[in-house]
Amino acid sequence: ATFDELHRPQFHFTPPTGWMNDPNGMVYHNGEYHLFYQHNPDSTVWGPMHWGHAVSKDLVKWEHLPIALYPDSLGTIFSGSAVIDKNNTSGLGTKDNPAMIAIYTYHNVEGEKAGRDDYQTQGIAYSLDNGRTWTKYKANPVLKNPGIKDFRDPKVSWYEQGQKWIMTLAVKDRISFYSSKNLLNWTKESDFGSDIGGHGGVWECPDLIKMPVADTNEEKWVLIVNINPGAPNGGSGTQYFVGQFDGKNFVLDNNFKAQLTGQANTPGSVKKGEGIWLDYGMDNYAGITWANVPESDDRHLFIGWMSNWKYANVVPTEKWRSATTVARTLTLENTSSGFRVASQPVKELQNIYGTTHQIPAQTVSGTLDISEKLKLNTPTYEANLNLETGGEAGFAVELSNTKNQRLLIGYDAASKRYYIDRTQAGPSEYSKDFAGIHYAPRIATGAKFPIKLLVDVASVELFADGGKTVMTDIFFPDEKFTKLKLISNNGEVKLTGGNFTELKSIWN
Ligand code: FRU
Repeated sequence: ATFDELHRPQFHFTPPTGWMNDPNGMVYHNGEYHLFYQHNPDSTVWGPMHWGHAVSKDLVKWEHLPIALYPDSLGTIFSGSAVIDKNNTSGLGTKDNPAMIAIYTYHNVEGEKAGRDDYQTQGIAYSLDNGRTWTKYKANPVLKNPGIKDFRDPKVSWYEQGQKWIMTLAVKDRISFYSSKNLLNWTKESDFGSDIGGHGGVWECPDLIKMPVADTNEEKWVLIVNINPGAPNGGSGTQYFVGQFDGKNFVLDNNFKAQLTGQANTPGSVKKGEGIWLDYGMDNYAGITWANVPESDDRHLFIGWMSNWKYANVVPTEKWRSATTVARTLTLENTSSGFRVASQPVKELQNIYGTTHQIPAQTVSGTLDISEKLKLNTPTYEANLNLETGGEAGFAVELSNTKNQRLLIGYDAASKRYYIDRTQAGPSEYSKDFAGIHYAPRIATGAKFPIKLLVDVASVELFADGGKTVMTDIFFPDEKFTKLKLISNNGEVKLTGGNFTELKSIWN
């Protein structure tokens, strides 16, 4: 693959060919970050799922590896996670060479399972050579189906206090927690969530992580729950819950519960039956965090699938479909709205920094043509803009090309919302759900708006206010967006400083 097609992202991971959806089995081991992914190698639409595979030393540059897991007689290979069995609890490796163990969902709607509800079960496979070759466990499945159609996407992690593994499993409209001493036999512990949060669709791809509350000695547990459909701007999205986990039950934090039930009158709080979201754009789904990140590096590293089930199968890429988000660091912040998960791109992104251009401080009234002023001409960059507006003035960053196609990333002062407007970003006849304006509540307050944008050929990621509000949207213009303008609306805004850094391709 040459990776130079019109819509090919240059610093986001894509498979060379074929279909990709969820990132799976992210695990760090022996100096490599592994990324597996839902993959249909024979087609650019969803189909029989395999686990594709790639590795990276820095979460930015990826090396494609052969397919890790193929379908077998128990089914195709749906989403799941991977762990390093350091204490050899499973007996599948040794203490000297611990097994990398993938825990995934078998999906089988054929043969004797045709027409039944119990077609999803959990299986495991192990590798003793850094994920290069895999053996399926001989007594799969390790968790049978109790008669529930949606029973999938196991995220397994070691629960130190109880010296046991916890499996966080998406079960239709809730999360079920299971535990195991050896990854082979699982016991049900509890259920969470059927009566709280967003329920516009099926719960999928969960994650359970212990996080420090930034700038405190406190720790909380964050439960990530992907859901499709039911996201705030339609289709698939990623919600989360903040609470406590004691090895058996996940219990919501009171503050977070108030935000979720309409009892907190703060930016971004919601009515009962709605969710609080990790990313308010349309194109960040099925994300979970890396396992086994070195102790010297206490980051929570996240990556999502940069698409949406509303149109993932029909977007106009020809050889492959879908990219991931950039790898992101998640932090738990105590904001004026209460607990919120913030996201930032991983610092390793600097490994592909090209030239940096400073954008001089100035007052913007109308349009500031940044790319013209700075003589910029690239569709791949990071832009940091420090804006100030106290009153009614809002702003928008416009990405455009010579064909009059444009994408706007902005802030609407009247409704205190960020937005991405993709109504004019190129042809969209392939899906009625593609063109649209997507909104996100501003969580931060105050007159200062630090805005970080990552723009690749076919996507933008907005990290506003230090990542407290995040939006990710993809786009497919007929010609690359190499022009960048800053526009003020309803008055002037102050640009107190900014910079624009060209990003190099991770493929060449
Ligand atoms: C989420 C999902 C998962 C499932 C996988 C199948 O996008 O539907 O629930 O395991 O995709 O490819």
